[in-house]
Amino acid sequence: MTGKLYPVGDAASDARITRADYLRRYAEAATDPEAYWMREGLCVDWIRPYTRAKDVSFHEVDFRIRWFPDGELNLSANCLDRHLAERGDQVAIIWEGDEQGDERRISYRELHAEVCRFANVLKAQGVRRSDRVTIYLPMIIEAAVAMLACARVGAIHSVVFGGFSPDALAGRIQGCGSKVVVTADQGCRGGKRIPLKANVDEALARCPEVERVVVVRRTGADVPMTPGRDLWYDRLVADASPECPSEPMGAEDPLFILYTSGSTGKPKGVLHTTGGYAVWTTSTFRDVFDYRDGELFWCTADVGWVTGHSYVVYGPLANGATTVMFDGVPSYPDHGRLWETVDRLGVNTLYTAPTAIRALMREGDEWVTRHSRRSLRLLGSVGEPINPEAWDWYHRIVGDGRCPIVDTWWQTETGGILISPLPGATDLKPGSACLPLPGVRPVIVDADGDELDGPAEGNLCIADSWPGQMRNVWGDDQRFFQTYFTTYPGKYFTGDGCRRDADGYYWITGRVDDVINVSGHRMGTAEVESALVAHRQVSEAAVVGMPHDVKGQGIYAFVTLNAGEVATERLRDELRQWVRREIGPVATPDALQFTPALPKTRSGKIMRRILRKIAEGETSGLGDTSTLADPAVVAQLVADRGSA
Ligand code: WT7
Repeated sequence: MTGKLYPVGDAASDARITRADYLRRYAEAATDPEAYWMREGLCVDWIRPYTRAKDVSFHEVDFRIRWFPDGELNLSANCLDRHLAERGDQVAIIWEGDEQGDERRISYRELHAEVCRFANVLKAQGVRRSDRVTIYLPMIIEAAVAMLACARVGAIHSVVFGGFSPDALAGRIQGCGSKVVVTADQGCRGGKRIPLKANVDEALARCPEVERVVVVRRTGADVPMTPGRDLWYDRLVADASPECPSEPMGAEDPLFILYTSGSTGKPKGVLHTTGGYAVWTTSTFRDVFDYRDGELFWCTADVGWVTGHSYVVYGPLANGATTVMFDGVPSYPDHGRLWETVDRLGVNTLYTAPTAIRALMREGDEWVTRHSRRSLRLLGSVGEPINPEAWDWYHRIVGDGRCPIVDTWWQTETGGILISPLPGATDLKPGSACLPLPGVRPVIVDADGDELDGPAEGNLCIADSWPGQMRNVWGDDQRFFQTYFTTYPGKYFTGDGCRRDADGYYWITGRVDDVINVSGHRMGTAEVESALVAHRQVSEAAVVGMPHDVKGQGIYAFVTLNAGEVATERLRDELRQWVRREIGPVATPDALQFTPALPKTRSGKIMRRILRKIAEGETSGLGDTSTLADPAVVAQLVADRGSA
């Protein structure tokens, strides 16, 4: 299948990048990469100009990834100071609360002052260059302020999604050794309250090294404050100066850590550095969203994920755009929330996830069509493959058939978008992320690591670096090289499967490793398994993905109980709640099947291939089971499947 083609059409007429521009830039990046990147790097302001662009080797002996290595810059200054003269009074962020119409607007000048104040607060609390600061906040302006304030003083932020449990938060605080945590009294989501400060208190029982907790008042709830440790944000900033010079940072100085799930072990702290990340988020925001001055951009992602870092905060602000921060959910107060908000604010570009599109599609067109959506010019999709049906609905109903859709493929590790159509340059195919951005070199390799030419299906690697690439796993250089550069030596392995069609278009088929993509959020099977076996009645657990209508993938857990324990409905519920409490709501198993044993090879390795088939309901073609230690286990698993 190559899919239906949606020609560029009218979108091309005034686009920043036409098809000819794209082809020219792609060719230049391929033939003279250094010249290309030297020029691309200029999209941000440098305090000290770089004299070369790329210094990279993916090979073990001289492994290094460095971009613009001798340049100096500050990303907070790029997002704030450089706009003051021209657009100081323009709105930088529109905050849209959980309650419809609960709005707050902050101009570039005000945001600059607020970031300076909080940067001074951080300094007064002893935060210095390269110290880590954990941010555990809802989608409020203070989240962007805290990130930018860290960037301003050279501290490294680690944002933890507000949906994560105290346990998960504690692990991430310990993992990077933060001494300061920024949180709020409570969060609001779909009319419910999230006890953020209480979660922090619980987490900190296990993080004695944390010296300060700064608490933003979001709901005004009465929360206990630990004297000597906890301080109110509003009091601190009220007393702080609105002037704070930005630290000149080396291009390769760390900017942030963001924990993400891998196929093995604990979540890894993905490290991004300053210069390359700044260049990549700035240029990809400009090009992929064909951003024009004065436009309103709305990315619905939470700042707790990389999408929020790159396309709610850094990319839009570096370009002087007005960005929407949404603290609610698409289904509250009703299923028309997104479209009501689009109309009320006048949103030009909407960037959201297939899971949200599918969930809204189920509620019927009426919710959408009763709002005008006239301001929309461009639609974006991110986080997982978008099925052609959802693509079509997004295009036809939401966009009235007039807005191109950019299906953007990327990862926490890539810092920004790598494969995506450009609105004025690329004919669209529903379900395909289309073509690589200039300078990006995707390759498809087979199981032996051989590169496949032309139309092909296999594993997606990137043959060479791009500025936004992650630089390390925090505190574990070995794990970085091991995870991404050893499977196919000399290439970055994405963990995704992919097909390239006869037109050279890329179709991401999903993860090929033990990572499950639940509603566009990554969950490691190993993490869920270790949460399950931490329960006193559980002996063993194996977790795989299963198809899910709305979430894309759901979590299917196979659980073996300790001898003498009895499998009951109550225990099943208890275990699902247990995982939810241990990790967070995103990790809650959708199905949980008790089994007397797991299918293992004679060497004791769990055969996940079989479990995946069972979870998918494909119980006929289970393939070769002869290498199993006890083939009878499979029949039992199949027989019990309905019980999950
Ligand atoms: C994984 C990365 C990219 C920011 C949000 C998720 C999947 C992401 C697409 C897309 C098909 C996609 C991949 C990737 N993915 N975007 N447009 N089409 N798959 O970041 O949590 O690091 O997850 O999300 O499987 O590897 P992440």
